[in-house]
Amino acid sequence: VQRTIDWVDGSVVIIDQCALPGIYRTLRLDTVDELIDAIARLAVRGAPALGAAGALGVVLAARAGGAVSEEAARVAKARPTAVNLSWGVARALAKLPEGVDAVLAEALEMLRLLTHCNAGRLATVGWGTALGVLWHLRAGGFVDSVLVDETRPLLQGARLTAWELAEAGIPYRVLPDNAAAAAMSRGLVDCVLVGADRIAANGDVANKIGTYGLAIAARHHGIPFVVVAPQSTVDYSLPDGGSIVIEERSPVEVTHLAGVAIAPPGADAFNPAFDVTPASLVTALITETGPHPA
Ligand code: MRU
Repeated sequence: VQRTIDWVDGSVVIIDQCALPGIYRTLRLDTVDELIDAIARLAVRGAPALGAAGALGVVLAARAGGAVSEEAARVAKARPTAVNLSWGVARALAKLPEGVDAVLAEALEMLRLLTHCNAGRLATVGWGTALGVLWHLRAGGFVDSVLVDETRPLLQGARLTAWELAEAGIPYRVLPDNAAAAAMSRGLVDCVLVGADRIAANGDVANKIGTYGLAIAARHHGIPFVVVAPQSTVDYSLPDGGSIVIEERSPVEVTHLAGVAIAPPGADAFNPAFDVTPASLVTALITETGPHPA
């Protein structure tokens, strides 16, 4: 099984998530600049995958020689909200005094860790945490079908999650994001399951934009709202979600769809990539070591 992100013959190799679902291909990344570009374009994305990308970015920088700390800092800043990226960079960088091989060993160790808890294709390090739970529930006969929010503006749900579910043979339907509350009101949803990009010490959760609205709707309808994430996504330096930096992306992602303008010329847009769901709306927050806060 192809890993979402891997280290092959001295290069970082990723599944190009910008090309899915139309084209399945891998990209080789040989420089820090190529890696940063891939992270910024979301060719590699999702919090756990970004942790591995950060660590492998340090490997690329260390092998190139030069100002490794500065290069590592550039990688860590490529996206601000998912804490795993800077966590992965810091973890690999801490090994630099022991040499390049130690940095690589640390990065490879992280790949194994991530794979272990999230087996399967993009799910390995994509929405692997939340969908990992789903695979288990499905195997136990607890899941008939899945409603997949399309996830505007970049359609990670329609393009990537649907692709993963199709591969796994799990029945699913894609719905517009603005149909989610209606689906809940009609009794079509038993549980909302999401991942996370950064979790504050008190359990506030930053995740893909729209998550907060889902949590509000789920609470209104008495539906469990469950977050699944690795411990590395918990940022204990933040007491609550108020200080989580929210990435704002280009207006073009909202005003255009697949390169075609869907708004008048010159239209501006509000395009935050993430929102923060308060802990009070989270029914359960599950990590590999148990619930959080414990
Ligand atoms: O902007 P993206 O596609 O990187 O956002 C990803 C998400 O919000 C995921 O839900 C999150 O990283 C959890 S992945 C287990």
